[in-house]
Amino acid sequence: MKSMIKRRNFIKGSVLGAISATTPIVSRASGLFEVNKRSSRKPIAVATWDNRRATRAAIDVILKGGSALDAVEAGARVPEADPEDMSVGYGGLPDRDGIVTLDACIMDEFGKAGSVTFLQHIKHPISVARKVLEETPHVMISGEGALEFAVSQGFEKENLLTDEARKAWEKWVEDNDYRPINHDTIGILAIDEKGKMCGACSTSGLAFKMHGRVGDSPVIGAGMYVDNEVGGACATGDGELMLETLGSFLIVELMRQGIKPDEACKMAVDRIMKKYPELKKGGAQVGYAALNIKGEFGGFSIDKGYSIAVSDKDQDRLIVPDHYLG
Ligand code: GLY
Repeated sequence: MKSMIKRRNFIKGSVLGAISATTPIVSRASGLFEVNKRSSRKPIAVATWDNRRATRAAIDVILKGGSALDAVEAGARVPEADPEDMSVGYGGLPDRDGIVTLDACIMDEFGKAGSVTFLQHIKHPISVARKVLEETPHVMISGEGALEFAVSQGFEKENLLTDEARKAWEKWVEDNDYRPINHDTIGILAIDEKGKMCGACSTSGLAFKMHGRVGDSPVIGAGMYVDNEVGGACATGDGELMLETLGSFLIVELMRQGIKPDEACKMAVDRIMKKYPELKKGGAQVGYAALNIKGEFGGFSIDKGYSIAVSDKDQDRLIVPDHYLG
């Protein structure tokens, strides 16, 4: 990895708001084993961070007869449309030039994928990614081409820079104050009534990134990966770390060997920490979420503060997985 410190010389961070909790946070440390059980009956949806509104939306789609692909798309659209979620879609923090650029990918139960990178002006990049999957012979479309494609598919061009995001960027320009970055990228995995799993991932990327920078989220195997023989995994955090270790693919391959989701996520974080020992000093975050095809799920992160949302027919839960530091 090129030094994160070097990267921090031009990337400044911000602390982003989380969606307020509506049900109790459940921690492994709480000892509430039954509540904290790491498996659920299908249908089930698992997402990075407190994206319970997204996992609930995904389950609702499935309960109304939708597929896992419909479900993960609907789930990702929740934070994409939310101006208060400043890491995804509309209201996302812009790059260092003040321009909002979005990345997203989606993967179906056959392992087919669609992805958009460096997309501007479109509120729902996940839906454009699905169009790439379904309407083109390609996997990934970028920048101007992605925008042209989106418009040709009927998506409306919109201004995605909210007043709040613009003010945050203006303050960043003024402050020139380097702070740790908090990412709330949504990665979401769902298994439908037929037992099919699909995944999606959507982000506005690192706050105040270089113009043109693309992170892990739209890269199949880095930000998200699904294989219906095994399960799926998705990621949030400093995308360069997942890009250089292909963490989501790694987790799925570890689960293929029979390793449980929690442990597989831990092993993917261990891989990062072994590769970049300087991260033991802190300052970086990666959080993984994984779901195997049996409905067992788990997560792990480098640092504290990470959580995963889990919904099934009966309940929405927020679970705090273990972390490497501290
Ligand atoms: N994980 C989101 C990004 O680094 O862009």
